[in-house]
Amino acid sequence: MAGRFPRAWLDELRARVDIVSVIGARVPLKLRGRRYWACCPFHGETKPSFSITPDTQTFYCFGCKKGGSVIDFVMEYERCDFLDAVKELADQAHMQLPDKDMSHEDDGASRALRERIWEANRAAARYYHDLLWTPEGAEALTYLYKRGLDDSGIKRFGLGVSPRHGGLTEHLMEMGFEEEVLIRAWLTGKKDGRLYDMFRNRAMFPIIDGSGRVLGFGGRIMGDGEPKYLNTSDTPVFNKRRNVYAMNFLRKERNLQAVILVEGYMDVVSLRNRGVPGAVATLGTALTDEQAALLRRFAPEVRVCYDGDSAGQKAILRALDIFEEAATPVRVLDIPGNMDPDDYVRANGAEGFMKLRPMAPAEYRLIREAEKHDLSTEDGRMQFALAGCEIVRRVRTPVEQDRWIRYLSERSGVDARVLARQVGAAPPPGAETARQRATSQTARKAEAFQPAEGQLIRLCASGQVSAELLDEELFVSPLALRIVEGLKRGETPSAIVDAQSEEDRAEAARAFVSPLDEGPVEAELAFEQCVGVLRRQRMDAQINELMETLHQETDPVKKNAQMDMLRQLTLERARI
Ligand code: UTP
Ligand code: MN
Repeated sequence: MAGRFPRAWLDELRARVDIVSVIGARVPLKLRGRRYWACCPFHGETKPSFSITPDTQTFYCFGCKKGGSVIDFVMEYERCDFLDAVKELADQAHMQLPDKDMSHEDDGASRALRERIWEANRAAARYYHDLLWTPEGAEALTYLYKRGLDDSGIKRFGLGVSPRHGGLTEHLMEMGFEEEVLIRAWLTGKKDGRLYDMFRNRAMFPIIDGSGRVLGFGGRIMGDGEPKYLNTSDTPVFNKRRNVYAMNFLRKERNLQAVILVEGYMDVVSLRNRGVPGAVATLGTALTDEQAALLRRFAPEVRVCYDGDSAGQKAILRALDIFEEAATPVRVLDIPGNMDPDDYVRANGAEGFMKLRPMAPAEYRLIREAEKHDLSTEDGRMQFALAGCEIVRRVRTPVEQDRWIRYLSERSGVDARVLARQVGAAPPPGAETARQRATSQTARKAEAFQPAEGQLIRLCASGQVSAELLDEELFVSPLALRIVEGLKRGETPSAIVDAQSEEDRAEAARAFVSPLDEGPVEAELAFEQCVGVLRRQRMDAQINELMETLHQETDPVKKNAQMDMLRQLTLERARI
């Protein structure tokens, strides 16, 4: 992830920005001992459990277990990705980005051009919106009213209308915008040397990012016709894969229960105007991996709430796979009948919508699977049971597996114990798809390391004990080992944290919370104790292993040699 920035440049950045001042600018801090403390900005609390360790330039919250380097903090707090966090910090530190064109929009467009396109888009949004309240906008305004919106809702979302016969291009040129900018912004087209407006006679939905910049538009035809929605194409400022509609609202929402992912712009506008928070939509495309990962930052889970028609149901199944692959917790809000979320919230109100029960992915998949079979026949129930077992096998916790096995048993009539055996059995060859394999890998939990391992890392990182003294052999957890290797190479704690995968970074940061103020003697003592614990554990494991082999050994000569070794090990074990 950090791969795009040269390491030396990132080291320089981390050296120049101070985590205490970056976090201190956003959260009130209190110094206690060698650490700063605050009420965690990421979960509600009244007693501070969020700590910053200046020595290691890392933070860790003992409450919600979030942690990392200054870059992780900015990502989490500003809800942006790695690239944007680095850019923001570089800006503060007055550092030039190593590569001038480093941006999400990899077409090499200069910063100046992108700034200009944002300005043009903003001016266009203003123009479309203002037009709504003139006689030329009367038809569109009526259309929006008919769709259940009122003036304040229209203003909240900056909705507008594009003129029937054009006029935006002229207007923006008069304001001084260059032809090239308007064309690159996809506001204006050019044919046979003549310029024309891209959007005509459509209800306009401006798409605004988390920083309030207008990235592009979705334009709804008023009445029938094709295409129903016309969307800004990819431009130097608009990447549909990495943004969602209503990001400007989502970014400001704190303590959200869930992000609600819907299909349509209108669904978002309607839900939010009726008081359902957290609603966003993709931008005229299917859900992407990037969006699935992005949405994880805003709430503990995402609830997929697509249209109730068969296309929507298929899209939900695909979205579940994508979220699981991105390790984003996800559930489904199943809209009954053929309604979409807009219809549903208009009919039932926000309260009715909030009453929809979020369904676990396995439950949703089982329901959809059941519909494919004729459960009134023995054959159908059998097929359903087999397919259902494949679904249940993807569930990671045994308790939850058990729950779906019982559900499956009830609906298929197959005995639950038989189903459990089927689920536990090895999947048929080739049954696990590449995607499923990727899921189980990326979704794996951060590997926690043992207290003694963490304590040793802490002692070394704070400079109380030299990392040179650490014996890599003693470390069991791969993450702890990677950290120790980094320390031995002389890397800084925050650089080591940044080098870990996203799941491991908080756990790595936890190791760098500085110890309470121990004197040098206590530090040495603690070091010896931890090394002792790890050595004993290692020996115990060796002894166990040896006993296991001994047990299976049939050759008496070998058995004797192993007995000797075991005796020696046990003696040694008793001495440490
Ligand atoms: P829908 O067809 O479900 O539209 O497409 P909707 O949101 O319910 O629209 P209304 O309520 O009839 O106005 C869902 C989303 O798919 C994209 C848009 O983002 C739309 O909001 N879409 C749809 C397009 O980009 N182009 C199209 O022609 C149709
Ligand atoms: Mn719809």
